[in-house]
Amino acid sequence: MIHYLTDLLACQGCDLHLNGFVVPGRGPVPAQIMIIGEAPGFDESIAGVPFAGKSGKELDKLMKLLESSLGKIDREDIYITNVVKHWPGVGNPTPKVKQIRACSKFLEMEIDQVNPDIIITLGKTALNSICPKTDLSVWHGKTMSLEIRGRERYVIPMYHPPDGIYNPQLTPVIKKDFSSISLTPLTHVQLQPIRDISELSHRFPEITVDLETSSLDTETCS
Ligand code: URA
Repeated sequence: MIHYLTDLLACQGCDLHLNGFVVPGRGPVPAQIMIIGEAPGFDESIAGVPFAGKSGKELDKLMKLLESSLGKIDREDIYITNVVKHWPGVGNPTPKVKQIRACSKFLEMEIDQVNPDIIITLGKTALNSICPKTDLSVWHGKTMSLEIRGRERYVIPMYHPPDGIYNPQLTPVIKKDFSSISLTPLTHVQLQPIRDISELSHRFPEITVDLETSSLDTETCS
């Protein structure tokens, strides 16, 4: 049995605990919407709050755009967390697999307890932590219906808010994705097992299947 806060505060499962304060998830439990980011930045590690700094301001602006499709949303109504709960260090490097693995039990516990209907992932690390091998450049802004931690949930992959700061060409794409969320899922797939055709449907919006039959005559072939 793990205890979220106590175990998180004591966690030395990877080297990141040396970087400063832990940043636990924050928000109501349970909550209908959960947002998962990558890892806290320096500002967040000082504040102890996810998305408290510059990326948080970007996220607040983007969350306003969600209102056109999801109705009025306050940050206080959403549970916000990160895949990795410690600051990855100067330059905010992408967390390593070992660091993501060390934190995975905390993210799983959060999903169980928060029990969200909708999970919005921000960036590739967040998307792949719950949907392995899914290509963000294909799936951004599209709603998937997936079985996650024992029940069906909508997963909506989004680019990470700072992606727009570092790559201005992405800004209109990110804004469009946030303002046009649909709760009609494009897919209905099981996450397990992932080594079958459902894995392909995570990665590609359309799949062509080439069937080999005994002749070209559709009436007589077998
Ligand atoms: N980026 C994240 O992914 N999470 C934060 O909390 C802040 C910036």
